Amino acid sequence: MTKIAVIVGSTREGSFNRALGNLAIKALESHGATVADVDLATFDLPLYSAAIEANAFPADAERLKALFAAQDGLLFVSPEYNGSLPPLLKNAIDWASRPTGGESLVALTAYRGKATAVMSASISPFGGLRGLMHLRQILSTIQTLVIPEQVLVPNAHAAFDADGNLTEALPATLIDMTAARLVAVARALAA
Ligand SMILES: Cc1cc2nc3c(=O)[nH]c(=O)nc-3n(C[C@H](O)[C@H](O)[C@H](O)COP(=O)(O)O)c2cc1C
Repeated sequence: MTKIAVIVGSTREGSFNRALGNLAIKALESHGATVADVDLATFDLPLYSAAIEANAFPADAERLKALFAAQDGLLFVSPEYNGSLPPLLKNAIDWASRPTGGESLVALTAYRGKATAVMSASISPFGGLRGLMHLRQILSTIQTLVIPEQVLVPNAHAAFDADGNLTEALPATLIDMTAARLVAVARALAA
């Protein structure tokens, strides 16, 4: 079974990215993945600080890192904040990038060699495109292979019906294409 974690970069009640993440989870499962739904609200992660790290590596940072390390692929579904990704998500990515247990500085055991993909829902007409460009760059820096497919849901406040489904066919189709490719690439890289 191909294992994929879905990480949603918003913990807001009524989050559009959570709605998008839920659809992505169903699509990934339909393509044969076993999905770990990562709710960042359930991880107690302080803002990264070298002093905190040196004193005692936070238990939840280690838990998040271990969860990522156990996957074949990672899907990030994130809002755009001021043209980039929210600090909630960057902080989580940063903690899980840190070496633990005598690893080398660049071990990147949570990330190296994994397939990743990105999606964003935004209330703007641009669908969070700028945030995803930054996220792609970060995911490459930490040695993951970011697939070219991606999903943008613009005007997110009007994009979902009461059941959390997308009203437009195009983004719904892109979720399926992106999920299929992520599972295929993650499986191939893990083989
Ligand atoms: C600090 C902050 C900055 C934001 N900057 C952007 C932005 O640059 N581009 C954008 O499309 N939306 C921006 N937004 C609006 C978000 O798209 C909107 O709040 C969205 O609902 C957040 O995603 P969520 O529903 O998953 O929480 C910003 C929101 C906040 C709180």
